[in-house]
Amino acid sequence: MHVDTEQNYILLYLQYTKDLLRDPIVDSMKTYRHHRETSTHYHSVYVSYCVLKLCIRLGVPDAKSVVRAALLHDFYLYEWYTEKHDENHIFYHPKASVKNIENHFGALSPMQRNMILSHMFPLCREMPQSPGAWLLTAADKRCAGEDYLHTSNRFRAVYDEINRRAVL
Ligand SMILES: [Fe+2]
Ligand SMILES: [Fe+2]
Repeated sequence: MHVDTEQNYILLYLQYTKDLLRDPIVDSMKTYRHHRETSTHYHSVYVSYCVLKLCIRLGVPDAKSVVRAALLHDFYLYEWYTEKHDENHIFYHPKASVKNIENHFGALSPMQRNMILSHMFPLCREMPQSPGAWLLTAADKRCAGEDYLHTSNRFRAVYDEINRRAVL
């Protein structure tokens, strides 16, 4: 597939994810603080948008399933700076995300489940087992680093456009 402008990437991204972005629980991710000053929603849209571009450029099959799993990789739905669990957030939140996704949206495919459970690789035990899983763990690290350095702000215009079009 040939996609060569930002607007075309945005349209393709919405084609893959619009129903999820319109879901009130996905929208609630805007209220959870993530990586100091961003939200889980902003971070997840940024990560999954980067994954979309990589999928298209590299010709990864089933890009829609990959991008949808990437959007929900941090669907853990709690305030991790203040809410503690028996296990450290690093190890706990991928499992919490899978549980929340399957409770809310139904079963993930084995490929999508592995993507989410392995996105903290190499810190977690689960290893990425597909091209999409490797792209997600790489994009997550890049975007998380940008969140802390505030350079992920450069995605703001695209993020706002995605949100504006998602509700049309
Ligand atoms: Fe995460
Ligand atoms: Fe993440």
